[in-house]
Amino acid sequence: MTTVTVADITKLSPEGVRNIGRMLRNDLYVIIPNQNHISPQDEVEFCEKIGTVDKIPPDRDFDRHRRHTAEYDDWNGVARVTGELNKDGEPGLFPHKEEINWHIDQASTIPRNCFLMLHGVRGTSGSVTGFINNIITYNDLSDDIKQGCEGVKFHCGAEHGTYSPKSYKFFRNHINNSHKFDLVQQNASGHTGLYFPFNQIYDWEGDKGLFDLLVDHVTQDKYIFEHCWEDGDVVLLEQNLLLHKRYYFESIAERLLHRVSFNDSNL
Ligand SMILES: [Fe+2]
Repeated sequence: MTTVTVADITKLSPEGVRNIGRMLRNDLYVIIPNQNHISPQDEVEFCEKIGTVDKIPPDRDFDRHRRHTAEYDDWNGVARVTGELNKDGEPGLFPHKEEINWHIDQASTIPRNCFLMLHGVRGTSGSVTGFINNIITYNDLSDDIKQGCEGVKFHCGAEHGTYSPKSYKFFRNHINNSHKFDLVQQNASGHTGLYFPFNQIYDWEGDKGLFDLLVDHVTQDKYIFEHCWEDGDVVLLEQNLLLHKRYYFESIAERLLHRVSFNDSNL
């Protein structure tokens, strides 16, 4: 984990921002505290120095997503993650108090943006996000088990109730049968790790015992880093070899996170 101490991310040079992007490739999550002052536009401009920001194109059901960005009518690179209602009476993404168990956002999507920014805007104190770095968990496997992982493929999808509550119906139940994902992957910084969003995996082609062993392995306490939020935190996370989890949080209606999805095309 890398914590970057910088007074104001909007004052960084483009190369300074890209250096943070390179850290993110290498370390899979980067935390930059004390950015209370930045605007939604600043969030997007920071991410655009690293890569292309997902502006939610119309072919991905723009209206459904716009409800979650409507606070910023002309600015659709920023999604609200909150139970707080906007001026149209709509909550943001994941408005429930219950935990969102280990996952990768849009694990089944190809191509998928490799990075996310989360920015704690208000009411974040006391909420916790967990991370598992699957480069580290992979490196700790025995050579025999690494061998067993080679060539394993699977489909990805999502199902209500597997990693978020059954009652949360924003995402659709689906399996992407058109793409098989490799369990062992190398990222752009040359690290090898596991693509293992185990709550979103279907049609696992490897040994069932290996699947269970890997779940037990990667979820050991020693591999879990918990970030305790404070307002102003900018948390950058990678979306292939990193799993994340939101813990139960009572005051979700008072907590507002902004989320920006982007890639690494400028690194
Ligand atoms: Fe997520």
